[in-house]
Amino acid sequence: MPKQIVAGNWKMNKSLADAIELAESIANGLTELEHYADSIILAPPYHALAAVSSICEDHSILKTGAQNCHQLDSGAYTGEISSTMITSCGAEFVILGHSERRQHFNESDELLTEKVNAALKAGLNIIFCCGESLETREKNLHKTFVTDQLKKSLFHLSKEDFSKIVIAYEPIWAIGTGVTASPEQAQEMHNEIRSFLRTEYSAEIANDISILYGGSCNPKNAAELFALPDVNGGLIGGASLKSEDFLSIIASFSS
Ligand code: PGA
Repeated sequence: MPKQIVAGNWKMNKSLADAIELAESIANGLTELEHYADSIILAPPYHALAAVSSICEDHSILKTGAQNCHQLDSGAYTGEISSTMITSCGAEFVILGHSERRQHFNESDELLTEKVNAALKAGLNIIFCCGESLETREKNLHKTFVTDQLKKSLFHLSKEDFSKIVIAYEPIWAIGTGVTASPEQAQEMHNEIRSFLRTEYSAEIANDISILYGGSCNPKNAAELFALPDVNGGLIGGASLKSEDFLSIIASFSS
C-alpha cells in the first residue's frame, strides 16, 4: 500500500526565526492529525534545516527534507550542499527534479540521475518531481514526457533503492499559478505513472509507491485530489507557508 504523505516545499522563503515559528506551529497542530497521514515532510531552505529537524524529532510522522543536493559529496563547489551535509542536519528526504531547478538551474535528466545516486548513497529518501509544460500538454505529449523523465533518471535503480522514492507529479502550468489540474487530469497522469511502473519496472514497486500531486494544491481542492485512487497526497508550495492552510490540507485525507 502506498503511504499517505503531505510535503511542504517552502522554496526560498522564511527567515530562520520565521521557519522555526512555522515548524513549531505545524508540530503543535499536528497532534490531533497524526492518524490522517503516514508522513508529513517539511522542506525548509538549508539555513533552517537543522533547527526545523530538531523540532520534528518529537513527532514520529514529522520529517524534514532539503530542496536539492549536489551530486558529489564534498569539494570546491561554492554555494552547494551535499547529501551527507543534509543528513547531518537530521533530514531524511531530498526533493530532486523540481521544475524550478530544471528550468532555472538547467538540471538535466542525466544530472538528476547523478543526484539521485548521491542522495541514495547518503541514505536519503527522494521526492522525485516530474511534470510537463502547457505546451507539451497542448500537443498531447504529456504522458510520454512524464514517463520519459522517470525512465531517464530512475530506471537504473534496484528495487530496494526504488522503495526510497516518492514521486511528485507537478504539471508546470499548475505550479504557483492558482490553476490546479482537474481531478480527471491528475488521476489520468497518476494512473499512467503507476501503470508505466507496473509494466516497465515491477508490480511491487507500482503498488507501493506514493505518488503525490503538486501544483496550486490548497485547503479547498486537497480533499477532492487526495480522494483520487492514484493520488497519495501532495507536494505543497505556497499553501505550506501558513500552518493553518498546511494543517487543513493534511486533514483533507478521508481516512
Ligand atoms: P505551489 O507549488 O503549491 O505553490 O503551486 C508546488 C511546488 O512547486 O512544489
